[in-house]
This record gives sequence, structure tokens and C-alpha cells, in this order.
Amino acid sequence: MALSMLLSIITSSCDESSREFWFQTPPEIHPDAPYKFGIIGDLGQTYNSLSTLQHYMQSGADAVLFVGDLSYSDRYQYNDVGIRWDTWGRFVEQSTAYQPWMWSAGNHEIEFMPYMDEVVPFRNFLHRYPTPYLASKSTNPLWYAIKRASAHIIVLSSYSPFVKYTPQWTWLEEELKKVDREKTPWLIVLMHAPIYNSNEAHFMEGESMRAAFETWFVQYRVDVIFAGHVHAYERSYRISNIQYNVTSGDRYPIPDKSAPVYITVGDGGNQEGLAGRFLEPQPDYSAFREASYGHSMLEIKNRTHALYHWNRNDDGKKVPTDAFVLHNQYWGGNLRRRKLNKHHLRRTIQPITDKFLLDSE
Ligand SMILES: [Fe+2]
Repeated sequence: MALSMLLSIITSSCDESSREFWFQTPPEIHPDAPYKFGIIGDLGQTYNSLSTLQHYMQSGADAVLFVGDLSYSDRYQYNDVGIRWDTWGRFVEQSTAYQPWMWSAGNHEIEFMPYMDEVVPFRNFLHRYPTPYLASKSTNPLWYAIKRASAHIIVLSSYSPFVKYTPQWTWLEEELKKVDREKTPWLIVLMHAPIYNSNEAHFMEGESMRAAFETWFVQYRVDVIFAGHVHAYERSYRISNIQYNVTSGDRYPIPDKSAPVYITVGDGGNQEGLAGRFLEPQPDYSAFREASYGHSMLEIKNRTHALYHWNRNDDGKKVPTDAFVLHNQYWGGNLRRRKLNKHHLRRTIQPITDKFLLDSE
């Protein structure tokens, strides 16, 4: 496996205020390439946002999967909108200047503001945060896919058409066929509005996308789906509701080993505050939920195992609160696991077990 390189960029070489940035080139695509993703959503620019960013940066991750709602500039008017986008850009520069952040758009990026003659949705977001959408044959920067290390990441737009025959639907149908789990075992999907969440805030807003795409997510055995939007943390069990078809079938989600884990990380810390009211009793599909600011971390170890944890900010330091070992949906099954070298699992599991014992001390 080729080693990644450190490259530097100097912003201007002819004046004293020139600044030097650097970044690590990504590792070669390989099924066992380890990689550390941070997951951040609904960040905004408050003291809580700063804690989230600082705790994320302490983790030493390689890249951020950002699940939408960046600057919250749409809460301002006229010139202040652009000023807020600028301040947010400067705020996150401490990380974004040195490593990739993969963007997905939230409702606060729409900025449809006819009262100030702004009628082109997503104008500021698209102008300031370009995405590599052409590389995955997407026709729109709001939905695209990238391959990184051992992961294939699909970014969807909750606020663009996605029903059958629309460009996003057609693109996703083709993109899922291209996923090669032999080369990129980890299949991760990002969106803004969560499909499974039990908070009173924004409840059911992801239901239309669930109806459009859930069957594919199960069919292609997506490992994990990250969303934001709800300003609280929640993780689901592996469940699906694909047998429900309005006129027949069980209308409740049921345990489904082929289904993704759904994780909501909309708790970056923006000025709207936390969504503190959950539906009671906690639904069976909800594994863990807590209204605290924080971020998540997905540490891919190899093709079969990844460590996941959610860190909440409240404790004044980076504290892993919800943690589990994610088994790959393609390589984790008995059939393929048997094909692996017999020492592979021992080599894999031992360091993970050691780390968890250390963390829990
Ligand atoms: Fe949102």
C-alpha cells in the first residue's frame, strides 16, 4: 500500500502575510485501508460549535463527513448573510485548511429569500463549498459519491427532488450498482433529514426519502447512514420498514440484519439550541439517544471491523459516550469471513478489544 504524502500550499509568496497550509494525500483505495472519519452536523458558530470542533480536532481523524447545516447564515438578512458565511469559513478553517470535509446540504443551505430577491436555492453554499460531483457522474453538486481508503461514501440531498425518475433517483440507482465491496467494503450514506429518529423535532421529515430509498439501502446492505437536522444524538438498531406498503404489511419497523444503522448527529452546537424532547416511550428501533452537543467518530480498522463512538461536549473534554464495534455488512457475514485468512480476525479483534478495555478504564 502506497504511503500518503504531506503536501503544502503557500497562499502568497510575495508578502509577509503569506500563510502555509498542508494536507495529507489520501491512502490508496484498498479493502483493508484504515481511515478515521469524524462526523459533524448542524455546526453553526457558537461557543458550543467551537467545543465540537476542538474536540473533533483532538481526535486526530483524517476527514470529516459533514451532514448539513453549516453556517446558519440564513438567520440573518442582506449583507449579514454573506458576512456570516465568511465568519463561518474562518471559524472552520483551523481544520478545513488541512484536511478534506465532505459536504452535504441541509435546509439552512437553501436560503430561498424572496424578500431580498434571493430566489436561487443553495447559491451561497454551492459558490463557497464545491463538491467533486462530476467524478461520480452526478449532474448536480448536491449529490455525489467519493471513494476514500476502504469506504464508498454516497452523499444525498434531502432538499432536492428524489422521487422515482428524478435526476437524484436515477443517479443513485446507477451509483449503487457501481459499489464494489471487494475494493471498498464500507458503504456509508450521508443525508440531512434523518430517516429513523424519535425526537419530537422534525419528526417524520425523512419519511418521504425512506419511502423512496429504504429498499435499496437494505438490498445493497449499506453499513451506516449518518444524518443531522435534529439537534440531538440518536442511534438506531439495524431495522427496516420495507415490508410496509400502505395497504398491507406490518407498519412497524422490524429487526433486519441487512439494514443500515441510522445515526443522527445534528448536535454540532448551533444557535437554535438542543432538541430536548424525545417521543416517549423510546421506540424499539432506537438504541441510544441523548440531547447533548457533540460529534461522532468512525475508525475503520480493516474490511471487517470499525470502531464507532459519539463524543459529547458537556463534560468539558472529549468523552466517548455511545460506542460500539461496527461489523462490515459485506465482509462481516459468516460466508465471506470464512474466506479470509484464519489469522485475520484474531489480528483484527485483538487491538480493538485492547482499546476498548483501555477506554473503559
Ligand atoms: Fe437542518
